[in-house]
This record gives sequence, structure tokens and C-alpha cells, in this order.
Amino acid sequence: MTPLLTVTGASKRYGAVEALRDVDITVDAGEVVALAGDNGAGKSTLIKAISGVAPADEATIAFEGREVHIRSPHDASDLGIAVVYQDLALCDNLDVVANLYLGTEAREGGLRFMDEIAMEGKASELLHSLSVRLPSVRAEVGTLSGGQRQSVAISRALLGEPKLVVLDEPTAALGVSQTAQVLELVKRLRSRGLGVLIVSHNLADVFEVADRIVVLRLGRNAGEFPGDPARHADVVGAITGATVAVAG
Ligand SMILES: Nc1ncnc2c1ncn2[C@@H]1O[C@H](COP(=O)(O)OP(=O)(O)OP(=O)(O)O)[C@@H](O)[C@H]1O
Ligand SMILES: [Mg+2]
Repeated sequence: MTPLLTVTGASKRYGAVEALRDVDITVDAGEVVALAGDNGAGKSTLIKAISGVAPADEATIAFEGREVHIRSPHDASDLGIAVVYQDLALCDNLDVVANLYLGTEAREGGLRFMDEIAMEGKASELLHSLSVRLPSVRAEVGTLSGGQRQSVAISRALLGEPKLVVLDEPTAALGVSQTAQVLELVKRLRSRGLGVLIVSHNLADVFEVADRIVVLRLGRNAGEFPGDPARHADVVGAITGATVAVAG
């Protein structure tokens, strides 16, 4: 099977710092890949290269088997790559419907012409299909829990009908039950056939959702593992530099 996303030989320098050196990663459709690694390992740098926020100095990227050039976030979203950033970029003083449709005027597809009632209907339908439970789609986002907010942000990314969803630390600020809620949502993205690339520091979360774990260390590939909790020690070893392994 051709992977949904293939990145080969990604390198990026910030002055004297080699943030990425010859990094490879693939994500299949219907697969959750976790990107793990210590602080400064290059995770965000790789995500920024894939999302077009800060292209790599060198990288060959193929999407659905075709070589592509991602030079801007617009290029990424045109391909069907949606990114949910850690800071979420939600507006607390607007309700859920308004937040879901924030920025859609910049998108193709005629959503900008939808009226309020149609938007509310489509918002409810989307959230329902993802089993996201909220007090009301008319609730101000500022009144929601962290997990609910993260769910709104992820749902918003789905309005553009992406094929790959990239999540940067989606559970970092969340409590136990909120984290579970967001991880359930990630699993639903997978069951819809989307590819998911998730950055996380939390290995419990990683083993909960990931089909495959790609470890970076000091800007390089440091191992790849199946998302099997029995491999926990191996993953820790790769993150800290005690071992280098290949998925088995
Ligand atoms: N804009 C930048 N300018 C200079 N150096 C940078 C910049 N962005 C990242 N770096 C450096 O590149 C390296 C990789 O950083 P990156 O943010 O990708 O790590 P990370 O794995 O996301 O870490 P964390 O887990 O702390 O978020 C680090 O040494 C960092 O200091
Ligand atoms: Mg980072």
C-alpha cells in the first residue's frame, strides 16, 4: 500500500543548530502515528515542515504517492493536511458554531454563503458524528472544559475534509477524563480512514492511541516501534539514547 504521507530525508538548520538531519517518516490512511522524542528532538520542526509553516531546507515529500511541494500552510491544506496547534486558536467569546466556521471565508467550497441555521445544523451533525458531547453548540467556547475545547478545535479541522490530521500535543493541558475524551476522538478519526500524526510527550497517551511510534532524538530518526505497550522500555530507550531499534 502506498502511504498517505511519505517524508524522506528531511533536514533543517537554524544557524548552528541542526534541528533535523535526514529524517524519514510515513503515515498511512487509517493509521495513527505518534511522533515521540525529548525536548528539542525536532518534533515541532518536522510538523512545521509537513504543515508548510516552516518548510525544511531539504525533504522529499509524497502525498498519496505523488511528489508534492509544501511551501506554505495553504499548500498543505490544499493537499488535505489539517493541523491542530497546541494553542488551539479558538475565540473564547464566540460560541461553538462560530468557532467551527471561523476562517471558512478563506476556504473554497461555498461554506461562506451558509446561513446561521444551516451552519448550526451542520455543526451539530459534525459533532454528533464524532460523538463530541457539549452542553450546547451555542455555548461560548470560553465556558467549555479543556477537553471540550480541544474536541472543538479538532472538529474544526475536519470541516475542510482533510485526509491527514496533524495534532501537536493535543492532551498536554488536559486532565485524565478530558484526555480520554480527546484520545477517543483521535480513534474515531482513524476509523473514518484518516491518517493521524500526533506529537505527544505522554507515553501513556502514545501507547493508548498509536499504531506506530516514530522516535526522534537530536534531530534524527532514533527508532520506530509498533504501538504495543510491551515496547514501552524500548521506546524510552530510543528517546533517551540508550538504544536504537527498527519496527518489528
Ligand atoms: N525558530 C527557531 N530558531 C532557532 N532554533 C530553533 C527554532 N525552532 C527550533 N529550534 C531548535 O531546533 C531544535 C528542535 O526544536 P523543536 O522545536 O523541533 O523540538 P521539539 O522536539 O518540538 O521539542 P519540544 O518537545 O520541547 O517541543 C531545538 O534545538 C530548538 O532549539
Ligand atoms: Mg515541540
